[in-house]
Amino acid sequence: MPNAAFTQRTDQIIADLRDSGQLKPFYEIESPMRAVVKIKGKGEVLVLCANNYLGLADHPAVIEAGIQGLRDYGAGTASVRFICGTLDCHRQLEAKIAEFVGTESSLTYVSCWNANEALFPTLVGPEDAILSDELNHASIIDGMKLMAKSVMKKVYKHSDLEQLESQLRETRQHPCRWVVTDGVFSMEGDVAHLPQLVELCQRYEAMLVVDDSHGIGVLGKTGRGTPEHFNLFRKIDVLTGTLGKALGGAAGGYIAASQRAIEVLEQRARPSLFSNALPATVAYSAKKAIEILDSHPEIVAKLHGNVAKFRSGLKKLGFDCHDSPTAIIPIMIGDEAEAIRKSKRLFEMGIMIIGFGFPVVPRGQARLRLQVSAALDDEHIERALDAFAKL
Ligand SMILES: Cc1ncc(COP(=O)(O)O)c(C=O)c1O
Repeated sequence: MPNAAFTQRTDQIIADLRDSGQLKPFYEIESPMRAVVKIKGKGEVLVLCANNYLGLADHPAVIEAGIQGLRDYGAGTASVRFICGTLDCHRQLEAKIAEFVGTESSLTYVSCWNANEALFPTLVGPEDAILSDELNHASIIDGMKLMAKSVMKKVYKHSDLEQLESQLRETRQHPCRWVVTDGVFSMEGDVAHLPQLVELCQRYEAMLVVDDSHGIGVLGKTGRGTPEHFNLFRKIDVLTGTLGKALGGAAGGYIAASQRAIEVLEQRARPSLFSNALPATVAYSAKKAIEILDSHPEIVAKLHGNVAKFRSGLKKLGFDCHDSPTAIIPIMIGDEAEAIRKSKRLFEMGIMIIGFGFPVVPRGQARLRLQVSAALDDEHIERALDAFAKL
């Protein structure tokens, strides 16, 4: 028999979400992730809400590599890394990631969420201080909650460099200061002020951590992410990122850093010690995605071209969208119910785009979040802009 308090509590949560219009529908997709997908009970829709920035999720070579990984190593490792879960394909992928993002070494996890949960409690010492942008991703926030209680934590206002500098001054007595930021902020679609962050961290001898999950594959001429965008390749102490967005879209995450940082993570991080390694099929498909990106930078150029077409088309239609080089275009609506209505209306017109409201974004700042992909052709962009015109 289920516990009565539990039953009452869970029923209440769902009822509250339903009553406030916040209950999320889960659409079932019956095809690979690509520009146009088939949705159960609805038919074909154009996807403008996936993180499939480079359109590699259904690339034939990525699929073939995943199948090869399955053939060569079977379904999974049935072990954590230090027991008998480290396959040679993990090491090959990690060498590729390190080379691609410009660090000495890297270590993979089953998700970037896991990577962030490994990073902070392992590398941040109990006497250290950590300064975090208020709009950092939930996995950074939760990862920091796992640090020793004695770590001094401060949150600075979004990209407020003056406040960050005063926090760096206030924490001088700590043996090591850490500054942590998203490279690309997922709800605003804006980019961290990396040149100033690097300069501040150098001046105050702080370690800089950048989660580039939405930057990798997207920013920079060759898709090496936010550091490349600012000509700061090899200048970031620690990078984390996902393999579940631009780099094949399956799953997986990484920490890329110095050899010594990676060795400590291998030896001490709890997700490394107590959780299974990335399946070989993902190690193969993600490595193939990076190789494709390495040899075809024109995919990144196509993505940037598509972003420019969307931005200028939306502006012409009078939509309020901030300038930014990223593939995330938040279209500000304001009222939450209105954002949800608009996303439903677009869905009826065959365009899949999600409306975000409180608590994901502040009250009164509800928005539609458009995510651009290199998988989109001009015909898709025109179809989407036509639908926006009818809103
Ligand atoms: C900035 C950032 N970090 C981490 C993650 C988590 O990535 P994963 O899906 O690999 O756990 C996301 C996913 O949305 C993200 O946007």
